Amino acid sequence: MRLTMIGAGYVGLVSGACFADFGHVVTCVDNNDDRIRGLEAGEMPIYEPGLDRIVASNVAENRLRFTTDLATSVAEAEAVFIAVGTPSRRGDGHADLTYVHAAARLIAQSLDGFTVIVTKSTVPVGTGDQIEAIIREERPDAEFAVVSNPEFLREGAAIDDFKRPNRIVVGTTDPRAREVMQEVYRPLYLNQAPLLFTDRRTAELVKYAANAFLATKITFINEIADLCERVGADVQDVARGIGLDNRIGPKFLHPGPGFGGSCFPKDTLALIRTAEEAGADLRIVSAVSDINQIRKAGMAARVIEALGGSAEGRTVAVLGLTFKPNTDDMREAPSLSLIPRLQEAGATVRAFDPQGMKPAMPMLPGVTFARDPYDCATGADALVIVTEWESFRALDLARIGDVMKQPLMVDFRNIYPPAEVHSHGFVYRSVGRPRLDRGEAVS
Ligand SMILES: NC(=O)c1ccc[n+]([C@@H]2O[C@H](COP(=O)([O-])OP(=O)(O)OC[C@H]3O[C@@H](n4cnc5c(N)ncnc54)[C@H](O)[C@@H]3O)[C@@H](O)[C@H]2O)c1
Repeated sequence: MRLTMIGAGYVGLVSGACFADFGHVVTCVDNNDDRIRGLEAGEMPIYEPGLDRIVASNVAENRLRFTTDLATSVAEAEAVFIAVGTPSRRGDGHADLTYVHAAARLIAQSLDGFTVIVTKSTVPVGTGDQIEAIIREERPDAEFAVVSNPEFLREGAAIDDFKRPNRIVVGTTDPRAREVMQEVYRPLYLNQAPLLFTDRRTAELVKYAANAFLATKITFINEIADLCERVGADVQDVARGIGLDNRIGPKFLHPGPGFGGSCFPKDTLALIRTAEEAGADLRIVSAVSDINQIRKAGMAARVIEALGGSAEGRTVAVLGLTFKPNTDDMREAPSLSLIPRLQEAGATVRAFDPQGMKPAMPMLPGVTFARDPYDCATGADALVIVTEWESFRALDLARIGDVMKQPLMVDFRNIYPPAEVHSHGFVYRSVGRPRLDRGEAVS
């Protein structure tokens, strides 16, 4: 099949490359010239493990190409996927549909023969109706169907998620569109990925409900972690103790500095706005969104407290800047709340991240970016682990302790066994586990 992806970002590029890998002929369109020029030269605009290889092999086999020419690629396609951004609208938290509406208008102008327009971007309930109206207005003569097909891939594991999804949700009641979508996903269907057909509005809501539920799970364990700190319990064991219950499950029960990223913060907000407009009150999701904001803002105070109550003149080494490991995505990352607050409190911040430093640099003025974790820790009064990159899990703690001014670790991801860090003479703070000060016995 001939498929066109509008938007060559995390979702459009990964989906496009994976569809090509399944044998479809895919054109990825983006209106960012530099991005397309880079892709044509084999440079990935984002960091996603394995993406460069799958792009290179499919380009070599002529199944994947990149262009800024939307018109030709839409005219040739049987299905056109909208994968442009839907950020939070400044001021009110609604999903900003400017890019989606603009893409719909452009697509309309170039439609040629029956075409399925597939919304992969995360969009509020009713957006499919709007896209249909825009296209109908631009091209009353066009033959098309608008389908909702939300994307559930996780950055950092995007290729595997796309190729082995838990489910594929397709929102359409048009029999022709359903046939086209079945053909698009046939390679995955053979892998036994459940293909769930719903009406369009339901599919749009599935995506928001899924993200809101996951955000709720994270926020729940974060609050339990706070309680653990107050009552002297260990949240890791609580999470395990509840996660082994099949009705609950172990995933998304890792406490931390609050959720970030390109999806959960904006999608919870957008869902709250949708519900308000519909006259429904989503009190749980509203609480989750508020609690998470407060949590992210409160992380600097934890570091300052560990430093003895003041960060003035102290040096803090931050390991991990991206919102999660295996991505270079800095959107809504907890580090963006933490670092400026530490700086305001008088700290000098050094930072290291395996992939995120380039995008982070313009967002974090005044930070010194280090070569590696040891360089980052040199001369620091506190080492703060903000993102759980694999390469931070087995640091040479003796060496870290030697290069630091004083051995203090604040582990916001609970990646170290407290006793191990403590045995190297560190004061150790984590999330929801007993605090360990120097010289204290470890139980
Ligand atoms: N990033 C994720 O993990 C993820 C997961 C699931 C769903 N989503 C959703 O998918 C959508 C896209 O997210 P993303 O992270 O890939 O965004 P992104 O910002 O990485 O990519 C969007 C791309 O679209 C391009 N674009 C915008 N308007 C265009 C136009 N008119 N023509 C051509 N190109 C255009 C931009 O230049 C950009 O390269 C969002 O709605 C997001 O919520 C994202």
